[in-house]
Amino acid sequence: MTMDTQEMIDLCKRHTMFSWAASGAVDPLPIARAEGVYMYTPEGKRYFDFNSQLMCVNIGHGHPKVRAAMKRQIDELLYVFPGTATEPRARLGKVLADLLPGDINTFFFTLGGAEANENAIKAARLFTGKHKILSRYRSYHGATNACMQLTGDPRRWANEPGMPGVIRVMDPRPYDFSFGETEEEQTARNLQYLEEVIMYEGPQNIAAMIIESVTGTNGVLPPPKGYLAGLRELLDRHGILLICDEVMAGFGRTGKWFGFEHGGIVPDIVTMAKGLTSAYAPLGAMGVRDAIAEYFRDHVFWGGLTYNAHALGAATALAVIEVMKEEGLVENAARMGQAMRAEMDRLVAKHPSVREGRQIGLFGMMDIQKNSRGELLAGYNETHPAMQRFGQKLREEGLFTFVRWSSFMCNPPLCVTEEQLLEGFAIIDRALDITDEVFEG
Ligand SMILES: Cc1ncc(COP(=O)(O)O)c(C=O)c1O
Repeated sequence: MTMDTQEMIDLCKRHTMFSWAASGAVDPLPIARAEGVYMYTPEGKRYFDFNSQLMCVNIGHGHPKVRAAMKRQIDELLYVFPGTATEPRARLGKVLADLLPGDINTFFFTLGGAEANENAIKAARLFTGKHKILSRYRSYHGATNACMQLTGDPRRWANEPGMPGVIRVMDPRPYDFSFGETEEEQTARNLQYLEEVIMYEGPQNIAAMIIESVTGTNGVLPPPKGYLAGLRELLDRHGILLICDEVMAGFGRTGKWFGFEHGGIVPDIVTMAKGLTSAYAPLGAMGVRDAIAEYFRDHVFWGGLTYNAHALGAATALAVIEVMKEEGLVENAARMGQAMRAEMDRLVAKHPSVREGRQIGLFGMMDIQKNSRGELLAGYNETHPAMQRFGQKLREEGLFTFVRWSSFMCNPPLCVTEEQLLEGFAIIDRALDITDEVFEG
């Protein structure tokens, strides 16, 4: 290290812009190194990474096998243009074809999740000859122009107007989910509503619907029972493709390789990034079923990227997938998910301000309420001083995660042990005394 913490922060703030923020208001965490589930400041203060950064460092930080594979690739070949064939590209296409269920056998590589979704939209429009896209309000699909319009959450607002043709629909689960419906009723009501929207928009105009198979930032919301199968059937009936955005839910996060596997369906197009390389190198991908791949064998795919199928990204993904298999990380996510469930239930029982904990595998979020009627502490897209103090307390105690509106994230790396998980929840337990203080009863 040649820079002290303050100089590092000052230069970052003076010469670089931070995402989703007014740079002046940013208080960046100074990080010098990271290993496993922990990261360290230059002075050696340790933080438990309880969000795998942006739910992406799935295998944990700094895995030696992946670092070694990356070094080997750097020494062998770094970059050739996208029209070339390379061994990492060839091997990754095959490995992904084997990993994905059904006949999703063909992949287009990108740099990240937004580009994967952009290309999924292109592929769906070119393949169907139709242009409208359905997406849901409780979603995030990326920060590029088209993806901002697919996105339902407030990050879209300042980016409007954008690409036309996106129809946003309500999610199966209402934002204030106090309707008292069963999951089956939620599914039936939502699919009936969706079919009406499709009728108004004209199925002959709708190319695809894009969903996060498990909604991430906007609530960690697993679909209600029967939703994925019902949606698949509804879209098939109207000749509309289903795109599953697995950028956050994929690569073991939910206790299965892909979130849509919980619903026993196969989408027409799947997009991925983040966990694909555990974010060790930038890489995303769009995977398509055979019928779509066949179409693009004699029709031009009108998309391209300088860094398409980058050798370093591909080699990193291959090493990450190997580590995930060798170390049984998907299975560990499912097992540790049960420990997370137990800890969430314990916190709900103990702290009156905790309304609910949701998790599927190691994909988790907890909500804070202000009263026993279950009203959330902060409104939609708002914050509350107690949530800010709660977040500060987590930081002071060495736990890094995202606190947003009335909720906080529980997404540790998939290599987490039970002991480490309990250590994280013990910190959260202590911090929840702060939100209990403002609980109105
Ligand atoms: C579900 C989902 N889709 C797409 C994206 C965009 O990915 P990227 O930031 O790599 O472009 C994200 C990023 O958080 C995401 O969570």
